[in-house]
Amino acid sequence: MSDTYTLTMDDPIETSLLDTSAQGLIGKGLDRVDGPKKVSGQATYSAEYSFENGCYGFLVRAPFAVGRITKIDTQAAKALPGVIDVVTDFDRFIRNSAQGAVKSAPVQGVRDVAYFGEPVAIVVAEGYEQARDAASLVRIEHEAGSGNFDFAEAIADADIPPDGAAPATHDQGDLDKAMGDADATVDEVWTTPSQNSAAMEPHASVALWNDDGLTLYGSYQMPSFDRPSLADALGLETEQVRIITPYIGGGFGSKLGIAPESVAAAIASKQIGRPVKTVMTRQQVFDATVRRSNTRQRVRLAAGKDGKLTGIGHETHCSNLPDEVFFEPAGIATHFLYGGEHRRITHAIARLNRVLSGSMRAPGEAAGMLALECAMDELAERLGIDPVELRKINDCKRDPEKDIPYSSRSFTECLDEGAKRFGWDKRNRTPGKMREGEWLIGHGMSGSARGNQLQPSEARVVLRPDGSAIVETDMTDIGTGTYTILSQIAGELLGLPIDRVDVRLGDNRFPPGSGSGGSFGAGSSGSSVYLACEDIRRKLATAMDCEPSDLTLKDGEAIAANRRVSLSDIMSGEIEATGRIEPGDQGDEVRQAGHGAHFCAVRVNAVTGEVRIDRWTAVFAAGRILNEKTATSQCLGGVVFGIGAALTEELVHDPRNGKVVNRDLAEYHVPVHADVPHVDIRFLPERDTHANPLHAKGIGELGIAGAGAAVANAIANATGARVRDYPLTLDKLLDSLPPV
Ligand code: MOS
Repeated sequence: MSDTYTLTMDDPIETSLLDTSAQGLIGKGLDRVDGPKKVSGQATYSAEYSFENGCYGFLVRAPFAVGRITKIDTQAAKALPGVIDVVTDFDRFIRNSAQGAVKSAPVQGVRDVAYFGEPVAIVVAEGYEQARDAASLVRIEHEAGSGNFDFAEAIADADIPPDGAAPATHDQGDLDKAMGDADATVDEVWTTPSQNSAAMEPHASVALWNDDGLTLYGSYQMPSFDRPSLADALGLETEQVRIITPYIGGGFGSKLGIAPESVAAAIASKQIGRPVKTVMTRQQVFDATVRRSNTRQRVRLAAGKDGKLTGIGHETHCSNLPDEVFFEPAGIATHFLYGGEHRRITHAIARLNRVLSGSMRAPGEAAGMLALECAMDELAERLGIDPVELRKINDCKRDPEKDIPYSSRSFTECLDEGAKRFGWDKRNRTPGKMREGEWLIGHGMSGSARGNQLQPSEARVVLRPDGSAIVETDMTDIGTGTYTILSQIAGELLGLPIDRVDVRLGDNRFPPGSGSGGSFGAGSSGSSVYLACEDIRRKLATAMDCEPSDLTLKDGEAIAANRRVSLSDIMSGEIEATGRIEPGDQGDEVRQAGHGAHFCAVRVNAVTGEVRIDRWTAVFAAGRILNEKTATSQCLGGVVFGIGAALTEELVHDPRNGKVVNRDLAEYHVPVHADVPHVDIRFLPERDTHANPLHAKGIGELGIAGAGAAVANAIANATGARVRDYPLTLDKLLDSLPPV
C-alpha cells in the first residue's frame, strides 16, 4: 500500500502538468476507448449479469395513491408455476434517494403509501415472465388516505426547505422599490412540467450474497455514495456492501441515489438464498424512480434605459412528496449570472402525492433558465436593446451577491463568438414578420451557465515497467466519456500511448471516486488520477536523479538532461500511487461556473403551429476541454434535452391521483433525430486555475442550461407571441399565430 497523495483545493494551482507534459493526448477529440466494446456488445450492463441458480424479481406496486396497506394477498401469485416467493417485507423498501449526497438513505415505511405505483412487494420466480405474471395477481387491500394532487392548490401551503444545492432564499436590497423606480420591467410567470430523465437503460440490479455480505450489480452513478445508502437500507455495515457498475446506459440524475429495485432484489435474494435479478420496466422507471419537479416561476427584472439591471427576482414553487427536502433550485444561476443590486431569489415546495422529485440533468438551471432567459429576452424587447447586447451590459466582474471574483468567466466572449458564428446580425428583427410560404421564421438566443463543483475523489494508478498503466477508482462512466478522459490524463502524465492505459471503474473494491453527478465527475476524478500520476512522476524523477520538473515522459521513455531511457531501465518493479482531491477554500473564495450562449433558428407553421428547428450554434467556455469529441457530445446532448424541454417533454399526472399517465417513450416525447438539426458546438480556450489541477470545469450539464429558452425566444421572434407555459406545443401556439 502506498500513501495517499492528497490535494485540498485551498489555493489556485497556477501551473498544470497537463500544459508541460509531452504525450499530446489532452484536448484532442479522441475516440472513446470503450466504444468498440459497446458497439460489439461486450460492455456488460447490469441486467446482463447472470449467475448460477439465479432467478428473477418483479416489483409489485401500489394500485392507489395514498393510504395504508391492510393486507397483501399473495396466494394466487404463489400458486403460479415457477413462482418461488412473494416478498412483502416492504417496510424496508426505500424510495430512490434524490440526492446522490444523501449518505443514509431515507427508509420509508411504505405500509403507508404516498404515491401511485410506489413499490410494495417483489415477486421472485424462475423466469422473468412468470414473475411479471404473478405480480399482476398480488392483491393489495388498503384504507384510502387523503392526498394532494393539485399543484395550484398545494402552492398555498408550500413550505420553505432547508438550503440545498443553492440557498433556498436570498434577499438583497429592496426589489419592490427597484421595480417601481425602473425605466423598464418584466414581471411574468413561467411554468414548467414534471419531466423524466428517460435514460436509455432502465434501472436494473442483480443481487447476490456470500459470507462477506451483499454484492450488487446495479446501474448507479455514485457507487461510493450509494454503498452506504444501500447498507443503511438493509441494516448492514458499509463494508458489507459492494456495488459493481462498470457500464451505465445513461442516468441524468435518475441513478444518483439507489432506486427501489436494488433494495428489493437484495432483500429477496437474502430471503430465498439465490441471486435475484430485478429489471424495472420502462413504465416502472417512469412511475417509481424520480422526476424533475414541475415548477411555477415568477421572474421580475428591473432596468434603466441603458439596460443595466437594478433588480432581479426569481421566485420558484416546485413540488415534492411530504417530508422530502429536495427542491428544484431553479434560481441557482440567477444568483450569479447577471448583476443588479436588488435581488430576491426564493424556493418553496408544494406538497404533492406524486412520484418523488429529485435531480435531473442540471437541476436548477435546466428549469430556471427557461424562465430567466426568456425574461431577459422580453426585457430586451421592451428596452429596444439587442438581446445579446443586453446580456453583455449585465455581465459582471464579481459575483453580485457574494462580492467575490469569478474563477474564470468568458460569458461576453461566448456571446460574441456565438453571434458571429450564427450570423446574428442577419436575424429577423421584427417579430412575426419573416416568412417563407406558410412558415414563420424566427431567431432566438439565450445565455448559459452552470456552476462548477469539486467533490472528494480518489484513484489508484499502477505503472508497470513494460510501459503500461492501470487506473482504478469507483468513479463511473454513465456515457459521458470517463474511461476515455481518465486514460488521456494518465497517458499524458505518464508518457504512455492511450492504449497502454487500462482504466477500471465502477466497483467499490476500488478507491472511492466522486461518481458522476453535478458535472463534477471529470474534474474530480480526473484530478485524483492526475495526483496519483504526479506522485509516480516524482518517484521516476528520483530514479532519474532529476527534479520532477525536468523530467519528460513520452511513449514509454523517460527523458532528463541528456539521458533517454525506457521505463523498464529505471523501474525495478511496479510503481503504485493513490491520489486524492478534496474541495477546499477555492469553493468559497471564488464563484466557479462554466458559461456559454445558444443561438437557434426556428420555423413555425402559420397554419398548424408546428415548430421545426433549422439551425443551432452554441459556444461554451468551461476551462480546459479534456477531449473535444466527448465534450462536444455532452453539450450536444444538453442542447437536445433543451429542445425537448422547449417543445415536447412533459410528464402528465392524472389530476385524480397523481399517477403518471404517459409512462413510456411512445407517450413521453423526447426529441428524435428528425427533431434536431445540425448543432454547431464550439469551446473557447479557457483555463481555470481555481477549479482543480486540470484547470477544467464541468460540462455535463452546461449544454442544457438556457437551451430551451433559446427555442422559446426564437418562437416568440417568429410569431410575435409569448407563450410561457412549457412545453410550447402547437396547441398553445395556435391562437396567437398571425393571420395566414
Ligand atoms: Mo446529475 S442531475 O447530478 O446526474
